[in-house]
Amino acid sequence: MRAMIIERTGGPEVLQLREVPTPEPGPGQALIRIACAGVNPADWKDRQGMLAIYQPYRFPYIVGFDAAGVVERVGAGVDGLRPGDRVFTPGNHGQGAWGSYAEYLVADADRVALIPPGMSFEAAAAIPVAALTGWQALFDRGGLKAGQRVLIHGGSGGLGSFAVQFARWAGAAVAATCGTSNLDYVRELGAQRAIDYRREDIAATVADWAPGGLDLLIDAVGASTLPDGLALVRPGGVFVSIPTLTDDGDIEASFAAAAARGVTRIFSTMTDKGCGVQLARIAGLVATSEVRLPPIRTLPLAQAADAHRLIQEGHTRGKLVLKVAEP
Ligand SMILES: NC(=O)c1ccc[n+]([C@@H]2O[C@H](COP(=O)([O-])OP(=O)(O)OC[C@H]3O[C@@H](n4cnc5c(N)ncnc54)[C@H](OP(=O)(O)O)[C@@H]3O)[C@@H](O)[C@H]2O)c1
Repeated sequence: MRAMIIERTGGPEVLQLREVPTPEPGPGQALIRIACAGVNPADWKDRQGMLAIYQPYRFPYIVGFDAAGVVERVGAGVDGLRPGDRVFTPGNHGQGAWGSYAEYLVADADRVALIPPGMSFEAAAAIPVAALTGWQALFDRGGLKAGQRVLIHGGSGGLGSFAVQFARWAGAAVAATCGTSNLDYVRELGAQRAIDYRREDIAATVADWAPGGLDLLIDAVGASTLPDGLALVRPGGVFVSIPTLTDDGDIEASFAAAAARGVTRIFSTMTDKGCGVQLARIAGLVATSEVRLPPIRTLPLAQAADAHRLIQEGHTRGKLVLKVAEP
């Protein structure tokens, strides 16, 4: 198969198109012919070698989590998927398998969901990591309930674009931070209070918007950008950080400070094991227009290095997707 591989970790220039053997699905797995691969910040960090704390790098190595395409064939014991099904998945890259910047990928069948009728491959490829991480942070870890006040720090990125909408859908009151040019965008997503992190004092604005303190804070940007985060959360509330690998601060110290304030402190990494059910639920919300897809910019797979330069800048609105092939 044709794949965007790396032979060593490094800058965007290490990405190169090559022919490599097509993987085989094992028992319980599906082989997916990829139409589109979603781009996440994790991809450039992976390319740079930062995921070595989770998995060994064996070269040639293929980055990329999110994939949308068509089931080519299935391994033994898979009965919920058939060749020809249109599907999407965060794949098995988190378990060390080759990633999604390729013509084919294998994924455990319980990490795969059907693409709703009418949804494009581009759209489906934009969903998995960003939406699953946002959903799990808000509900599985953050326990968000209707009527609560939540701040999404980083409301205009891939994760934030989904999280703001999920929180509104759940009946929460939502504030979100973003840069000046994204204020209208974040309001359109459903934030009642859009906070310009470049021009406003976030702490003062939150104190005005949630005088008793936030019920839930989701930090999807990084510890150094919200140094007073804990003080924004009411005692008894929850403060969830999405681990960035680049700006997570002193994690042990932040647990201790949260305990002293009576705040539940969580670092919420995406769980992909068995995520097919959650993916299907999220796709259902998109299909019924309860949640809408963020704007998507699509580049050909051959321009993966350009996509990495863009995502690495940290100012993407919505999602970036790579077009791999016509399905
Ligand atoms: N550990 C995990 O399981 C996991 C899973 C998913 C994501 N993540 C991490 O979570 C982070 C967010 O992911 P993502 O997919 O949303 O990234 P993304 O799409 O690249 O997000 C970029 C957004 O962040 C905003 N932003 C940049 N600096 C900001 C600041 N100081 N305050 C508020 N907003 C700011 C930008 O808005 P402006 O252009 O307006 O500045 C831009 O819209 C990344 O570090 C990613 O690696 C971790």
